[in-house]
Amino acid sequence: MSALSLDRVTEYLDGLVPSRPAELRRMEAIAERSDFPIIGPACGHVCYLVARLTGARRVFELGSGFGYSTAWFARAVAENGGGEVHHTVWDEDLSARARKHLDRLGYTKLIRYHVAEAVGELKRARTRFDLIFNDIDKHGYPGSLPVIQKKLRPGGVLIVDNLLWDGRIFDAKDRSASTRGVRALTRRVMKDKRWTATIVPIRDGLLVARWQPRG
Ligand SMILES: C[S@@+](CC[C@H](N)C(=O)[O-])C[C@H]1O[C@@H](n2cnc3c(N)ncnc32)[C@H](O)[C@@H]1O
Repeated sequence: MSALSLDRVTEYLDGLVPSRPAELRRMEAIAERSDFPIIGPACGHVCYLVARLTGARRVFELGSGFGYSTAWFARAVAENGGGEVHHTVWDEDLSARARKHLDRLGYTKLIRYHVAEAVGELKRARTRFDLIFNDIDKHGYPGSLPVIQKKLRPGGVLIVDNLLWDGRIFDAKDRSASTRGVRALTRRVMKDKRWTATIVPIRDGLLVARWQPRG
């Protein structure tokens, strides 16, 4: 059997993530204890790196949980010179918990909180974004794409979590709404010449895509 497995690679990469604030580590421990699905250190670091590489100052998150992924984007935006990171989740309680963690991390001024359905909230946003991160319920992925395409600036970046969906995408018998949602979004982005995209195969697979409407 090969010594190379996705879990092993992810564990290895998690271990290589440089030192991070103690509050981020506390959030990782909370997620572990409560079995809450956060993106984890290696994917968080990819998000941070992409945001730094592209100089993103305006970030919109769909499906933010208790703020772990938000913290990685906020860190990048702060280092990019400041801006806005929109935290969007439909649970009041998760939003309040996120605020506590993100305040402790010193990101109070950067974060805009929305307690609402995320795609509707993005649709209502008045401006376009440098980077959009999508981690909502997977059956909602295809429906979110047209809204994302309207709200991402030309040259902007889309990151979407769970595109490997714990291997369920490979199971032809799996016709569940969530698996179909992941497959549909993958297909649409990969076939559309306006997107330049790949799936970074860490943890559950991160789509990283650049949007260029006329090119
Ligand atoms: C996978 S968790 C988010 C984890 C977070 N991105 C992180 O890595 O720290 C997704 C969260 O978004 C919420 N959610 C799912 N679909 C949503 C939607 N359409 N609008 C708003 N919140 C949604 C879920 O209830 C859950 O709390």
